[in-house]
This record gives sequence, structure tokens and C-alpha cells, in this order.
Amino acid sequence: MPLYDNNTVNILNKIKDEDLIRFVYYSKLTLKSRFKPSIFHSLERDARKFNKSNGITGTLCYGSGFFLQCLEGKKKLLLPLVQAIFDDTRHENTQIMLIKPIQVRNFDNWGMRLMFLERWLWSPETKKQADTLSKFLPFRPYKWNTNETEEFLQAIQKIETPPHIKQSGITLNALGNMTRHIVGPHQAFILVQGVLSVFVIIAIVLLMQVPYY
Ligand SMILES: Cc1cc2nc3c(=O)[nH]c(=O)nc-3n(C[C@H](O)[C@H](O)[C@H](O)COP(=O)(O)O)c2cc1C
Repeated sequence: MPLYDNNTVNILNKIKDEDLIRFVYYSKLTLKSRFKPSIFHSLERDARKFNKSNGITGTLCYGSGFFLQCLEGKKKLLLPLVQAIFDDTRHENTQIMLIKPIQVRNFDNWGMRLMFLERWLWSPETKKQADTLSKFLPFRPYKWNTNETEEFLQAIQKIETPPHIKQSGITLNALGNMTRHIVGPHQAFILVQGVLSVFVIIAIVLLMQVPYY
């Protein structure tokens, strides 16, 4: 588990159990979970309940098949939760982006706010409000360095109403992701097949026009 790599252990060893920390990671939604858009609601509901009773705050962002979660709380309470999250089979390839001791929470009032970062599914109202997020879309947290991650977290805190979308939108998104997943690796093949099919159709049309003697 990434929680036990040397660098992470060194950082965590310097922080006292009672101290507040900010922990940020990204992960990928599994192929199986992409078929179950309801997981977003159950995750948000369960996370809110547990986090509230354990003094854990933060945000869970999702877009383009990736999660980015920022968690804030006492180290001794946060680490067991992080371990449970990293062991959760609904996502994979968890990668730590940032761990640091903090004095104040950035997401003080947020038990666990789910942010859906798929611009094409937002309402015009959300689009206006979330203009500052444009530079972080399409959502590709795996490309960000620490500064970009911090910048994103600052931008996201300023959003007053979360860019929530309807269940039907989430289903559509899952289907879109699915298509991208299947078609993506075979783009060249599909293109060649498409061009060949056009040639075959043209050849048939031409043959049909040749006079028969
Ligand atoms: C991306 C992601 C984020 C999650 N975030 C939280 C969270 O903030 N709080 C929480 O209680 N559970 C969260 N969960 C759920 C936990 O992974 C796990 O299901 C929950 O802690 C129950 O664990 P247990 O069955 O070992 O008791 C998250 C799961 C995923 C996939």
C-alpha cells in the first residue's frame, strides 16, 4: 500500500497523533464501478456520516473516471480511514498527492462534499459559478504537481454550491466513460476499418454502374 512507502512514512513520523493533517490522493474508478452510477450517492452518504462523527472534513471530486479526495482531520483518526479507503475495491491505483500538517482546515464546513467535475453535464448556473475551475478541466489530477494540487483545492473551496448533477447525468457519464474505455485503445483499428468500408461501398457502387454485355 502506498501509505507504507518510505517517503510517506518519513512525513507521517514527523507528525504527532493529535495533530491535524491534510491528506490528498487521486484514484481511478474501476471498470465495474463505472456501470454503477449509484455508488456516488452511497459514497457521499456514508462518508458524510462517518466523517462528521470523527471530525473529518474535506471534499471528494470526481471527473473523467478519476477521484481526487482531500481529507482533513487528526492524524490518528484520519490514517485508519485512509487505509480503509485505499483498500476499497470500488476504485484502484490510489496515489498520494499531498500530506502535510495544518493549523486550520480549508474545508471546515464540509463533512464530505462530492463535486462532479464534468463540465458538459453542468447546468448554466453551475458553469457560471465554477468558471475558476476551467483550467483544471478535463479533470486529470494524475498530471498535477503539488502546486497545481494546492491551487485546485483553493479554487474548489470558493465554490458555494457544489456542481451537482442529476442521477441521469451520472448514468450518461458512466456510459460515455465506458465507450471511451472500449473505443480508446482501438481508435486506429476502427479508423482503418471505417476507411476500408468506405472503399468497399464505393467499389460496389462503381461495379453496379459498369454496363453488362
Ligand atoms: C473514492 C472513495 C472515497 C471514500 N471516502 C470516504 C470517506 O471520506 N469517509 C468514509 O467514511 N468512507 C469513505 N469511503 C468508503 C470507505 O472506503 C469504506 O467503504 C468505509 O470506510 C467503510 O469501511 P469498512 O467496511 O472497512 O468499515 C470512500 C470510498 C471511496 C471509493
